[in-house]
Amino acid sequence: MKRLRGAKLPFFVSVSIAFIAVALTTVAAAAQTRVGIGYALSPTSHYGVGAEAFAAAVAEATDGRYVVEQFPNSALGGEREMIEGAQIGSVDVLITSTGPVGNFVPETLITDIPFLFRDYDHARAVLDGPIGQEILARFPQHGLVALAWAENGFRNLTNSVHPVRAPADLSGLKLRTMQNDVHILAFETLGALPTPMAWPEVYTALQQGTVDGQENPIPVIVAANLADVQPYLSLTRHVYSPALFIMSKSVWDGLSETDQQAFVEAARIGAAAVREEVSRVEQSGVAALRGQGMDVVEGIDLAPFQEVLEPAYAQYAERFGDAAIARIRDYRP
Ligand code: PAF
Repeated sequence: MKRLRGAKLPFFVSVSIAFIAVALTTVAAAAQTRVGIGYALSPTSHYGVGAEAFAAAVAEATDGRYVVEQFPNSALGGEREMIEGAQIGSVDVLITSTGPVGNFVPETLITDIPFLFRDYDHARAVLDGPIGQEILARFPQHGLVALAWAENGFRNLTNSVHPVRAPADLSGLKLRTMQNDVHILAFETLGALPTPMAWPEVYTALQQGTVDGQENPIPVIVAANLADVQPYLSLTRHVYSPALFIMSKSVWDGLSETDQQAFVEAARIGAAAVREEVSRVEQSGVAALRGQGMDVVEGIDLAPFQEVLEPAYAQYAERFGDAAIARIRDYRP
């Protein structure tokens, strides 16, 4: 009867196996490509939740060949800087609000018109439907690839001077806005003093009183601890703030078609996670901010704000066309 030999192997065989194991590990490590993703908020914010879901989906879809490394809290710069970085290839992927995107891809600016979207369902349906997809298709000609629409949320006003209940309360308020023409025109028309500023400078500007207020969705106001520097919150929901997963075109062009599709799918999964988190924080955020001492003005009549904005709407119509605006406003999936 043949007897199996014990586990002991001759010296040269053991050395060869060890050598092959080291070589295989090295090959596996070398085959892993790191992809950085930058965003302006903390890892626990809606963007952080989306980046985490994106990273997990990329790892799964590519069998770990791509590893997503996160750069939260504006570690790669403000949103405008990150977009510039993606254009020149120094930033791989970013999550950004559309705030500064219109400076690079003007076709997104129409989505930044105040009071254009009725509610979250309307906004999400437009962006996921043909209109949103047509806008995404315009990115490559600007050196960027938009992988998916994500979300920042409906923006509300905070300030340190007084509660804002009506347009007249905005008169002379120095408001930080995003670097976005459409928003700046709206706040000028409402009588405020819009001060465009990159997000990384905003907290200090509010703390030092360089500006009186700012506007952002509830999930941002919560994530950025703005209650510490802004006593008044007005639930104006004056504009929906879309967000995007954007990839540098130079990174995109280096991917196989299968991997390109894997990144698109992963961004859709990340975007869905962002939206879910926005919905969750919309439910709990206002109570939390009140608990942190914010004076919250609810039930604001928004019709007077829309009336004061009429001259701005006339300019938007001239710039984007009545039909294109109506196509979004009246969209039914
Ligand atoms: O206000 C902004 O600049 C944006 O809403 C922010 C906070 C960077 C999130 O995209």
